[in-house]
Amino acid sequence: ASIFLSGLAGRRRRVPVAPDALERAALARMGGDAAAYVAGGAGMERTMAANRAAFDRYRLVQRPLRDVSGRDLSAELFGRRLPLPLLLAPIGVLEMAHRQADLAAARAAAAEGIPFIASSQASHPLEAIAGACGAGPRWFQLYWSSRNELVESFLSRAERAGYEAIVVTLDTTELGWRPRDLDRGYLPFLRGRGIANYLSDPVFHRLPAEGGAPGEHPRPGLGLLRSAAELLRAWPGNPLRALASGEALRAVRRFIAIYSRPDLTWDDLPFLRDRTRLPILLKGILHPEDARRAVEAGMDGVIVSNHGGRQVDGAVAALDALPGVADAVGGRVPVLFDSGVRSGADALKALCLGARAVLVGRPYVYGLALAGEAGVRDVIRDLAADLDLTLGLAGHRSLGELDRSALAIGGAMP
Ligand code: FNR
Repeated sequence: ASIFLSGLAGRRRRVPVAPDALERAALARMGGDAAAYVAGGAGMERTMAANRAAFDRYRLVQRPLRDVSGRDLSAELFGRRLPLPLLLAPIGVLEMAHRQADLAAARAAAAEGIPFIASSQASHPLEAIAGACGAGPRWFQLYWSSRNELVESFLSRAERAGYEAIVVTLDTTELGWRPRDLDRGYLPFLRGRGIANYLSDPVFHRLPAEGGAPGEHPRPGLGLLRSAAELLRAWPGNPLRALASGEALRAVRRFIAIYSRPDLTWDDLPFLRDRTRLPILLKGILHPEDARRAVEAGMDGVIVSNHGGRQVDGAVAALDALPGVADAVGGRVPVLFDSGVRSGADALKALCLGARAVLVGRPYVYGLALAGEAGVRDVIRDLAADLDLTLGLAGHRSLGELDRSALAIGGAMP
């Protein structure tokens, strides 16, 4: 209510309220390479568009004359009651939006009491991000490395730093085909950003060089990567010159070989399950059968997501996959959702279709680019206020009341 009232009272805004205006303003601020990386999607960006279009197939059916005062937006996740059914999605390389990157976003999430999901490819080490979260809830997103010893190291670091859940992202065993980034040579990556968790990891530095034992390489482990990052930083205006030195390219190739594991299968999940008591969520689930299997494998939650349309162009819209996954899971573990949430009504529709809470990706990056921590807070608070109003106007008082009967689906009334 305070947000709505300050809007009525004529206070000037740090970030635009409308999602499209927010995106336009932030992209203009960010500059070409970063804007392309954040805003872009896979291929012809049809899945990115489909994610948005899907929300239009589900429409809220208002129910008047029900007492909607004293609304409650809280949601329970793994024994913690959150004030809002929102989380900040894991986003790598945030440094390209703002110098304080993950630290600023984590502080904003903590101030609003919602979980910050730190990316494996964060711009700051996960311990520093944990510090920025303070008493706020924090989750860690894992890209399953080709080296299990690195997986173990990330896991134990996350546990020691007080992370409360592990999100395993399954849809990015390799980077998708992203024309906007390909045109620009993936410069944000090549400038050596988004590797803080690796460079701060002792196990990472002890990993053997390709085809050799530890120490065999003149610069053991990923010393190479560090030298690539340094090389590239030395030529900020012209990273291509650094690239031209074969060393940088070898280092980048080596990093890509280590960061993910394309041969990962269901048989690998017990490795993780046996090594942590934290809740594990699988992110990137779209097929009901996979959701069922995740529960049977002892996973504690699934996140319905197509990575914001950045991986498989032509993939099903995430919202269209949500009801089937929710049915398959049958309430045994929480189902979370992301990909395309831009408004309170979007979030509300996902909650009606079975999500316990939703993750927000690009919009918070835009808030970060425009006004740092305060900008991220504004984006969270706007979304929360919009959700609160829409919930009440649609005739509901709390999230527990929501189900598909609140929606007209494909034009058919409930
Ligand atoms: C992502 N996403 C992502 N996911 C993940 O598990 N680890 C990561 O490091 C990243 N990095 C990343 C960078 C950028 C620039 C974007 C836009 C996205 C995916 C993210 O967590 C989430 O699934 C989507 O962003 C959700 O879609 P919307 O809200 O952006 O439409």
